[in-house]
Amino acid sequence: MAEKTLFIVKPDAVSRNLVGKVILRFERKGFKILKLKMFIFTQDQAEKFYDVHKDKSFFGELTSFITSGPVVAAIIEGNNAIATTRIMIGATKSFEAEPGSIRGDFGLGLSDNIIHASDSQESFDHESRIAFE
Ligand code: CMP
Repeated sequence: MAEKTLFIVKPDAVSRNLVGKVILRFERKGFKILKLKMFIFTQDQAEKFYDVHKDKSFFGELTSFITSGPVVAAIIEGNNAIATTRIMIGATKSFEAEPGSIRGDFGLGLSDNIIHASDSQESFDHESRIAFE
């Protein structure tokens, strides 16, 4: 079933010139890129984007990192996009992510974990509205 999802290439990956390598993974897998945008999150956008985490101890760290430099947002489409993309990006803690996953192959960080991807239809609707507003 064709489904859409959103991913954000985070500031660490953009500053390390990994944008192309990350996007290539999704094109190679067979996803179609529907939208692509480079921008810098405002504080307000970041707080809305990550509002599910607003009561977490790391919320300040999270919003300060995601606003720290340019990101690249993409909406992609393909079979089972949400779940498949979550498998492709790997565990949140890059230092524990499986080799072969994007975080497992490119990073060691937690805030700076290369990429974010929507984890449900609801988060896709919410996050894509903010990223492509
Ligand atoms: P992401 O997939 O963007 O979703 C929420 C982000 O919060 C997550 O990736 C991590 O970058 C970040 N995160 C999760 N847990 C922690 C933590 N304990 N400390 C700092 N950042 C965290």
